[in-house]
Formats: sequence, C-alpha cells, structure tokens
Amino acid sequence: MPYAQLLPWYDEFKRVLPFRGTRDPYAIWISEIMLQQTRTETVSGYFTRFLRRFPDVRELALADEQEVLKYWEGLGYYSRARNLHKAAKIIHEEYDDRFPRTYEAVRALPGIGDYTAAAICSIAYRLPYPAIDGNLTRVISRVHGVREDVGIPSVKRQIEELGREYIDRERPGDWNQALMDLGATICLPGTPDCARCPLKDKCDAHLEDDAELLPVRAAAKPPKPVQMGVALVTHNGKILVQQRDAALLKGLWVFLLLENDDTPEGLEKKLRSMGIEAQLKTHLGEARHIFTHRIWNMKIYHFEATDVRKKPGYQFVTADELAALPLPTAVKVARKFATELL
Ligand code: ADE
Repeated sequence: MPYAQLLPWYDEFKRVLPFRGTRDPYAIWISEIMLQQTRTETVSGYFTRFLRRFPDVRELALADEQEVLKYWEGLGYYSRARNLHKAAKIIHEEYDDRFPRTYEAVRALPGIGDYTAAAICSIAYRLPYPAIDGNLTRVISRVHGVREDVGIPSVKRQIEELGREYIDRERPGDWNQALMDLGATICLPGTPDCARCPLKDKCDAHLEDDAELLPVRAAAKPPKPVQMGVALVTHNGKILVQQRDAALLKGLWVFLLLENDDTPEGLEKKLRSMGIEAQLKTHLGEARHIFTHRIWNMKIYHFEATDVRKKPGYQFVTADELAALPLPTAVKVARKFATELL
C-alpha cells in the first residue's frame, strides 16, 4: 500500500488553516473555490472576511453581485466569485438553502468541476472522491511512476482511477488534504524533498530517481502581450469608470482602457466617440499586469474633460464612490494615480 504512511504523517504535520476546522459544506465550498489558483496564505484572510459577511448560502444568495465582487477584490479570476453567487442563488431557490448532498448535485452547480465537487464531498460528507488538482496529479504521477503527458485525456483518467483506487474509504477528505499538503510542502514541483517524504519507500519516482522530472506536461503557451492605453479622465472632482463586459474581468470596474493603442491620440479619439471632449494633461506612468493568457502593458495618462455629452456605458464617480467599487488588481497602479488626482 503506497499510501500507508500518509494519514499518520498528516495527523502529525497537517497545516493549520482557517477552513480546516469545519464540516460545513458551504464553508468548504467557499474555501475550495478561493484555493483554486490562489495560495493558502492569501486565501486565509479573504476566507475569514468572506465568511463573516456571507456566513451561509442564504446571505450570499441575497447579496448584490457587486458586493460579492468587492469581497473578492484582489483574488483574481473573478468568474469564480460570479459563479459562487449564481450557485448560491440556485441553492437558495431550488434547495431551500440546504447545500446539495450528492456528488452529482454538487457537480451540477455553476463553477464546480470534478475537483471542487470531490473536495467538498470528501471533506464535508466523507464520500470517496479523489480531488485531483495540480498537487494530487504531481504526487500520484510520482508515486505510481506515470511518465506520460498528464495533459492527455487517457493519462488524466489513469491518474483519476489511481486516486479512486487508493483513496482512504474512512477518511477520504483527510486523504485528499494530506496529498495537497504533501504536494505543497514536500513533493514540490521541480525540487521535491524526498528525504522528508512519508511515501518515499513506496514511491516509484523516488526509487527511479526521476521525481523532479514528473509529472510530464507539455509547455503552456506563454501569455500574449497587449499594448494598452489607460485614460484617467477627471471632470468636476470625479473620474471616469466603466464596468467591464468582456469575459476577462467581467463585472469589474476599470478606467478607460484602449486595447492595442497606447497613444494619447488614440484615447482622445475613443473619448470623443463616447461624447467626451478631453484634454491631455500628463503621462502619469506605466504599469504591467500578467494574466494567465495576456500581459497588459499599460501607459497611463491624465485627461481633463472639458465637455461631456453623457452617453450610456460609463460613469463619473467621486473618490469615495471609486473606493466602494470592485476594481481588479490589474489597474492597481492606475487606481493609485487616480486617488492622487481626486
Ligand atoms: N488546496 C486546495 N484545497 C486545499 C485544502 N483543502 N487544503 C490544503 N490545500 C488546498
């Protein structure tokens, strides 16, 4: 049994995390969504604040989406927050605020994939579903010596089947979380600390001395750089903001952004098409934000509006109103300039 030493190790060394003390499926759901693509240290503070404001499904379902996004501000991947809110409304309306009890019903909620459904059901309900994320993929591929590209569907299935075969039937949630902790602290990508690993005697990759080469993964496409003009347009002590409609950062508020054109002339023309006459004041600076598939290289300018024929699609807001809106980290530098202008 390759995992015999896993739970004894977990009982001794498990990380103390704020979401570990509960069996409440709602709280576990929130934590697992936050933990996707985000480090545990970052999640801890967000989790505590979120649960204080939205302590149960009902509170979340009845909240305004903008407020949910505000509590998510800075975590990134905002579709996670929009889907949480959508799913909470479904649970409120269709399940009378009671979190669904079966894997299939949990899996059917928006924003919940195989990983999240397995994590919730194993931790909250002790159902034996392996929660295959990057950590489990790495540990399992090493322990069992899976040496093919884990991006290939049949290889992915092989990892899932190994998980289903070996998951502890009595403590499936702890088994999953033990592998997550092992993957986060010992069985690291690139530089595994095999000497400290409780599974080393049974680990195929350790015995073959190629753990640092596993899992095999085709290189990801690098993010594509985009030149972005950013206009901070002030008018009577207020500043122009727009709510994003594009899939990237949908629902969040940004300043005037112009993709593929970072010149003042381009921004001025764009403003005119929005019914705004504005004069360039200064080039404030530059900023860069790296997303998974995009890099925004931003040039930030201050414009002062001289004539505004209000058209739909944007708003002028005060400093206080700006502070209350959910803004993405991508415009953090621009926001700092904006606060100084107001
Ligand atoms: N990463 C995702 N979910 C986790 C959990 N429950 N414990 C530790 N790390 C995690």
